[in-house]
Amino acid sequence: MSLEFGDQTVIVTGAGGGLGRQYALEFARRGAAVVVNDAGGSVAGAGGSDVPASRVVEEIVANGGRAVASLDSIATPEGGAAVVDAAIAAFGRVDVVVHNAGILRDKSLVKLDWADLDAVLDVHLRGAFYVSKPAFIHMKDSKYGRFVFTSSNAGVFGNFGQSNYGAAKAGLVGLSNVLAIEGAKSGITSNVIMPVARTRMTEDLLGHFADQVAPELVTPMVVFLASAACELTHECFSAVGGRYARVFTGLTQGWYAGKGVVPSAEDILVHLDEIENRDGYTVPLSTADELTALLPLLAQE
Ligand SMILES: NC(=O)c1ccc[n+]([C@@H]2O[C@H](COP(=O)([O-])OP(=O)(O)OC[C@H]3O[C@@H](n4cnc5c(N)ncnc54)[C@H](O)[C@@H]3O)[C@@H](O)[C@H]2O)c1
Repeated sequence: MSLEFGDQTVIVTGAGGGLGRQYALEFARRGAAVVVNDAGGSVAGAGGSDVPASRVVEEIVANGGRAVASLDSIATPEGGAAVVDAAIAAFGRVDVVVHNAGILRDKSLVKLDWADLDAVLDVHLRGAFYVSKPAFIHMKDSKYGRFVFTSSNAGVFGNFGQSNYGAAKAGLVGLSNVLAIEGAKSGITSNVIMPVARTRMTEDLLGHFADQVAPELVTPMVVFLASAACELTHECFSAVGGRYARVFTGLTQGWYAGKGVVPSAEDILVHLDEIENRDGYTVPLSTADELTALLPLLAQE
């Protein structure tokens, strides 16, 4: 089976370099019309340039593909809306949003100032809202859409010195889960990618892993999640060095204190093994999933 995007328009934010560039080239190679969004700043988000996005567009067009550049910063509501407007103006529709734009302002919490918190939340998390809301409205009308949000092991698993980045990246999982639920009736799916790859963002951090984590190795998972063939939604995948794996939030069977019983903190300590025990865990896909599964337990006398 071949996954083609012939009549589709794909928005990739932060597509002027690194991972986003690889995604944009591959979507275009598979026939998509691509909006190559990139504001062209530094890794920390300083400055701006039209060069990165324009170069990727030139590369796509030189290969016979279709693409337009969007130089808007997705860190503002106007910028996010402008990216979606660019897709509609150039190609008349938007089928896929890969929110990939990102910056780093790493500092331990003690040293973090609010400007570094705001800058990181604005690009990764608020930016995701600013692009996905207008795109979602179009997708609901056309009863089809695919979202891929870029999270990180720093957010889902944690990493020293990345409280701002980690919180933003974990927030993207929350946004994706809710979009998956809100989009389900309209043929819209939403999933998350957690990449690790050698890019300008990570070149000084990867050490001996660097040679084995080419950004091209993340692209197949993102293209699959963005395709019509992907019926998965509400999921999260790690893609690192050619290993693709599902990441999920599980709920243990836990310990039930009993009807009408208000346990003490000491009771929690005594039952910690049951609370922590992963045997028979479930993976709820909504708040209702968690609560429905509780009903038989709560009904016990
Ligand atoms: N490289 C990794 O190992 C890794 C690991 C986990 C997550 N990620 C995430 O993957 C994504 C891509 O990162 P990368 O490694 O390719 O780094 P990168 O710096 O090469 O790419 C990020 C791109 O986003 C653009 N960008 C930044 N702010 C923007 C804004 N406000 N509006 C539009 N464009 C903006 C930048 O100009 C840049 O081209 C990021 O979200 C990053 O956090 C990367």
